Amino acid sequence: MTNLSSDITLWNEDKMPIIGLGTWNNVSEEGVHAAVDAALKVGYRHIDTAYTYGNEAAIGRALKKWFDQGDVKREDLFIATKLPLQGMQPERVDKYLGRSLAALQLSYVDLYLVQFPCGCPEKGSDLLLPLDESGALIADPTTDHVAVWKAMERQVLAGRARSVGLSHFNARQLLRVAQAAQLRPACLQLELHAYCQQRELAAFCKGLELPVVACAPLSSPEFLQLADDPDSEMTCLPKISPLLDPVVAEIAHKHKKTPAQILLRHSVQRGIAVIPKSVNPARIKENFQIFDFELDEDDVWELDSIDRWNRGRVFDKKFFRGMESHPEFPFNDPY
Ligand SMILES: NC(=O)c1ccc[n+]([C@@H]2O[C@H](COP(=O)([O-])OP(=O)(O)OC[C@H]3O[C@@H](n4cnc5c(N)ncnc54)[C@H](OP(=O)(O)O)[C@@H]3O)[C@@H](O)[C@H]2O)c1
Repeated sequence: MTNLSSDITLWNEDKMPIIGLGTWNNVSEEGVHAAVDAALKVGYRHIDTAYTYGNEAAIGRALKKWFDQGDVKREDLFIATKLPLQGMQPERVDKYLGRSLAALQLSYVDLYLVQFPCGCPEKGSDLLLPLDESGALIADPTTDHVAVWKAMERQVLAGRARSVGLSHFNARQLLRVAQAAQLRPACLQLELHAYCQQRELAAFCKGLELPVVACAPLSSPEFLQLADDPDSEMTCLPKISPLLDPVVAEIAHKHKKTPAQILLRHSVQRGIAVIPKSVNPARIKENFQIFDFELDEDDVWELDSIDRWNRGRVFDKKFFRGMESHPEFPFNDPY
């Protein structure tokens, strides 16, 4: 079996575990504790969160319990969080990272990501994501990536983030930041799974020596379910999930693994980090057990061939409604 590394070395020499726990849509105190406990018990050392997920404080309390009991040390964990869309002005970066650090009860994060290439105005004293009466995001078209990146770099220099990175940026936007950067981006986080394999963008990142992290590595099936709800604003999402694909099922049967394990292994075997989210301890364990088998050339060929390119995207124009006319909306470019 090919030796598969369990982590990716970033340009600053930090090791980012190739599997992390996703935490979006997990906001209850009990849900967060159960997920963090289950993940740390089976060996996860990478946790992905964001200001916009509204769960940083619960994650901070769950981590504190582990630190206080001496069961894990801060330096053994890789914690990533994100600058929200309403923080996309250089003078706001310090404030939003400060809020995240206070909520997480940490003095630094391992990775601070720009969550999305478009900015929004701030809303109210709670600094929430601003929505109009129809529920669409309100755009601030003055987003300046280079200015925001300079403010991100200052967080590294101040010791509040070990590294900084980008999320959902397209190739053109990545290149612009990379060319202007004093501190290179540590990675790109983007939607990536068997139905949206992002081959061109992943190859572009390889050229920039930029590791890739797959968010929604199982294609975010919760959101696909919303597509079946006639009252949902998400009815335009594609009603498909690679978890239910017959090709994936057949390969899972062959290896005596689950479809989720096949999907995660497919990305990890490409050298891409994955951050599957679950609140279910059995699934959290299952998602971590992907190092004891290998997809062979035929499996890889078949999985590669179920790609639906941009048609397989879950987080598309409809998901970011209100942002599609922002001058930096990333999905108007082919990749
Ligand atoms: N940068 C960004 O803007 C961005 C965007 C999206 C996501 N993310 C990050 O990426 C993480 C993952 O993305 P995601 O949460 O959208 O979707 P995902 O990880 O692709 O899918 C999560 C869904 O799959 C289910 N699931 C988990 N393990 C499973 C298994 N073994 N078998 C069957 N179903 C399983 C979960 O249900 P249960 O919880 O019930 O198990 C949940 O409904 C997020 O949580 C977040 O941390 C970042």
